Amino acid sequence: MSNADCPNRFRVRPAEPQDCPDILRLIKELAAYENMPEAVKLTEEDLLRDGFGPRPFFQCLVAEVMQDEQKAGPNIVGFAMYYYTYDPWVGKLLYLEDFYVMDDFRGWGIGTELLKILSQIAIDSNCGCMHFLVVVWNKPSIEYYMRRGASDLSTEEGWHLFKFDKEHLVRMAAGE
Ligand SMILES: CC(C)(COP(=O)(O)OP(=O)(O)OC[C@H]1O[C@@H](n2cnc3c(N)ncnc32)[C@H](O)[C@@H]1OP(=O)(O)O)[C@@H](O)C(=O)NCCC(=O)NCCS
Repeated sequence: MSNADCPNRFRVRPAEPQDCPDILRLIKELAAYENMPEAVKLTEEDLLRDGFGPRPFFQCLVAEVMQDEQKAGPNIVGFAMYYYTYDPWVGKLLYLEDFYVMDDFRGWGIGTELLKILSQIAIDSNCGCMHFLVVVWNKPSIEYYMRRGASDLSTEEGWHLFKFDKEHLVRMAAGE
């Protein structure tokens, strides 16, 4: 059953500062799902400063279930963290960073609603496309995105994501 069948089951809204503990809980759950629970170093204070300070580095939508659907658990059950970035070929684009719905609430249409709202946000802000990363073994999510028309830039265009870690940044900054 989706929210279209039962419109009061859940709602999606922009995150507020008081949602930071729930957002961090969901970030950790997604990291555990991706087999990297120890990778999350972020704290609630970091999220508060970086998302809700004078210069926000990210934005977030949260999905909350109505009181009688809580199953005695938290009422924020999903989120989408995003920000804007810039592509010198196509201009503004929306980058979807984290996208997650708790296991018990999957299949309700929450993910679809999050993507619907994100798509409208992207269109309204004149973004040419939405980018996101998916780990190669996460077949259910890859299929989920492909069913909605996503293309795989690694296989289709050969792009690979690289990083310089802090150690190498320090070395380069020092001119080494
Ligand atoms: C990907 C994800 C966010 C989708 O959220 P969701 O709220 O389950 O999405 P929806 O309810 O809109 O759609 C679920 C899809 O699975 C199917 N489904 C039905 N029951 C389901 C269930 N109990 N559990 C999961 N999927 C179910 C639905 O039919 C639907 O298929 P569709 O693509 O044909 O519409 C969610 O599955 C998730 O958090 N997965 C684990 C984390 C993850 O992989 N995140 C993405 C990282 S890139």
